[in-house]
Amino acid sequence: MYWAGSAYTERAMKGLILSGGAGTRLRPLTHTRAKQLVPIANKPVLFYGIEDMAAAGIADIAIVVGDTHREIRDAVGDGSRFGVSVTYIRQQAPLGLAHCVLTARDFLGDDCFVMYLGDNMLEQGLAEFVEGFERQRREGSGEQDASGAGSCRAQILLTPVENPSSFGVAVIGPDGDVSNLVEKPADPPSNLALVGVYLFDSAIHEAVAAIEPSARGELEITDAIDWLIRNGHRVRHRLLEGWWIDTGKKDPLLECNRLVLDTVVRQVDGAVDGASRVEGRVVISAGAKIVNSTVRGPAVIGADTRIENTFVGPYTSIGDECVISDAELDHSVVLEGCRIHGTSRITDSLIGQHVQVTRSLERRQVSRLMLGDHSHLELG
Ligand code: G1P
Repeated sequence: MYWAGSAYTERAMKGLILSGGAGTRLRPLTHTRAKQLVPIANKPVLFYGIEDMAAAGIADIAIVVGDTHREIRDAVGDGSRFGVSVTYIRQQAPLGLAHCVLTARDFLGDDCFVMYLGDNMLEQGLAEFVEGFERQRREGSGEQDASGAGSCRAQILLTPVENPSSFGVAVIGPDGDVSNLVEKPADPPSNLALVGVYLFDSAIHEAVAAIEPSARGELEITDAIDWLIRNGHRVRHRLLEGWWIDTGKKDPLLECNRLVLDTVVRQVDGAVDGASRVEGRVVISAGAKIVNSTVRGPAVIGADTRIENTFVGPYTSIGDECVISDAELDHSVVLEGCRIHGTSRITDSLIGQHVQVTRSLERRQVSRLMLGDHSHLELG
């Protein structure tokens, strides 16, 4: 289920995945885990981005990492299991997306590259986006001068949103070129938001070196792309097809889990006893045991997990080595090593690693809690 393999045509283009952010909006999970490693359908968000790059023929990838660098290195390794080579670049502080490009200067050299935000998920693959850029550069370079001005130097991915003030926003001219970009404008000039995937050639290096930090103290990639336009370079765009989710918060993460589970192919490797039912799109990983329970898909159950006297409802991912008994869960993500026993129905929930949830044996309705910093609890 995990690896995309390596049978792709390689491109000269490089990949840059940004995974330095702190993930404050996913606390408490991100006190102990990088937000890019939170699982969607039991696979880290970051792995989908790496697989997308591999599928687009991009085999030379750098991941920009911050404080969580060890964990990301342990999870991704040298990239060989994805059929790519992965280099790690340490960013000393999260100083913005354009700062990541500055930091990655030596790795990138003068090659074209695709930049991808490590906690974003897209339904659409990267191959068509990359091919469109290469075509533009081949066909649309007629008017450039000796400095390269006039040729297509960047391509961005855009989608209409209801709250453009929360994003980078682009304005498109009559010829389809991008004419203006602004980061998180109070008064948005359009409803077209920048999605977290960008294509650049080497002109971006001059741009990221020329801009000043924004009001939030970051070097904004939006400002760098705007600088390219102001300095006579063409920036093209594509409109996003399909869904796009920034998984950095609980509810979008659950939604993303739902969308990905909808594409899962049924595979039952674990053991299901005669008293249990496994219905629809369900993955039961090797070593898992389903005892006197119902698992109604779409759902995934991790390796060596035991589900007993339990109903697991649609859109639920349960990680490896969990024990869930006398319980009912749906529309939730449960990370590895959890113990859930005797609870009332758990829904719309994101539960971190090695969490224990049990029912109090007293008749009075009491709750005994030991919760991590920044936990969220909604008691019924
Ligand atoms: C960043 C970019 C913004 C872009 C967004 C996409 O915002 O600065 O231009 O629209 O990613 O997710 P941030 O997540 O840093 O607020």
